[in-house]
Amino acid sequence: MSAAPGRSQASSHRSPPGEGTPVSAAPGRSQASSHRSPQGEGTPVSAAPGRSQASSHRSPQGEVTPTSVIDFSSWRAAQQAHIEQALAVWVAADAPAGLGEAMRYAVLDGGKRLRPLLALAACEAVGGQQPAALRAGCALELIHAYSLVHDDMPCMDNDVLRRGKPTVHVQFGEAQALLVGDALQALAFELLVPEDGTVAPALAATLCRQLAQAAGAFGMAGGQAVDLASVGVALDQPALEAMHRLKTGALLQASVLMGASTGSLSASARQQLGVYGACLGLAFQVVDDVLDVTADSATLGKTAGKDAAADKPTFVALMGLDAAQAYADRVLEQAHEALRRSGLTHTNILHALADWVGRRAS
Ligand code: IPE
Ligand code: IPE
Ligand code: MG
Ligand code: MG
Ligand code: MG
Repeated sequence: MSAAPGRSQASSHRSPPGEGTPVSAAPGRSQASSHRSPQGEGTPVSAAPGRSQASSHRSPQGEVTPTSVIDFSSWRAAQQAHIEQALAVWVAADAPAGLGEAMRYAVLDGGKRLRPLLALAACEAVGGQQPAALRAGCALELIHAYSLVHDDMPCMDNDVLRRGKPTVHVQFGEAQALLVGDALQALAFELLVPEDGTVAPALAATLCRQLAQAAGAFGMAGGQAVDLASVGVALDQPALEAMHRLKTGALLQASVLMGASTGSLSASARQQLGVYGACLGLAFQVVDDVLDVTADSATLGKTAGKDAAADKPTFVALMGLDAAQAYADRVLEQAHEALRRSGLTHTNILHALADWVGRRAS
């Protein structure tokens, strides 16, 4: 690919700090490998076997925090910092007419980065190629960020607050917000086909196909179409579930499967990871429905109470708050069960991510 006019190098071919460096400090896929937090502490990610919590730490306040929770928190913080650095390199500021600034506004400094975290955790679970998984995770995050920019526009959910900031169309205008989405979508695919050999051609083709299917008419975009067509409609549970699986679940399931594609695994392990990703994705949107009612805007970084105000069909509207949370918990238990059936042994982080989805505050 030749450099774009006015740019010395296509952004996606710049290497973020650490590209090519395995996340785990120890060679291979040793489960007890150490991860360095941004503060430089090396904390074993998976000291406890399986999901059991072998030991605990007492805080100065006297609360007991299980060791595995601490390990997951430091893994997550280290990966989030790594993802943030990569995105800051790959989303270039110098796109014309302020587009680069608006793209960076949409992507950087906010968001839980769940999709890249899932891709990296799935990569670890199968002993995959971390540099390819980082690109896959960031590509998923760019598609997700574009979906949020468009979701917030007046023609969709008409929201003014996202990730604690004015939404992109409020800050930069509707036309620029539209173009931010367009450009982020294109950049996502560019990330998957680098010229530097970080992603082998066959793997790049697989990742592009997986991402396109999850983002497109039979994935996120299709689900968003159902969402818009369902305002004021009392969907029954199967219909609501189908909508949630598409609009949110598809990208989350793809995060797991794209991370897994960077390594090799049996057909049955892949199938179980697919079940894990689908369950986590469905539960994620059910919890999003719950948080829309139970959390405040400051905590969410987006306007609370929007679903009822806009007459959206949600799990809370269908079955009430407590039953919706209980439903999410049951679906997440199915995610854990699928991991146990996968036969994979390095799944502690994937288990912890499913727990996080169920009990997150925002
Ligand atoms: C919000 O997604 C939109 C949904 C798909 C429910 P997240 O809750 O992952 O948003 P960020 O990325 O953390 O802001
Ligand atoms: C959005 O669902 C899902 C997307 C594909 C962006 P919501 O409309 O419920 O997401 P929030 O609550 O605005 O983040
Ligand atoms: Mg929406
Ligand atoms: Mg919305
Ligand atoms: Mg919502």
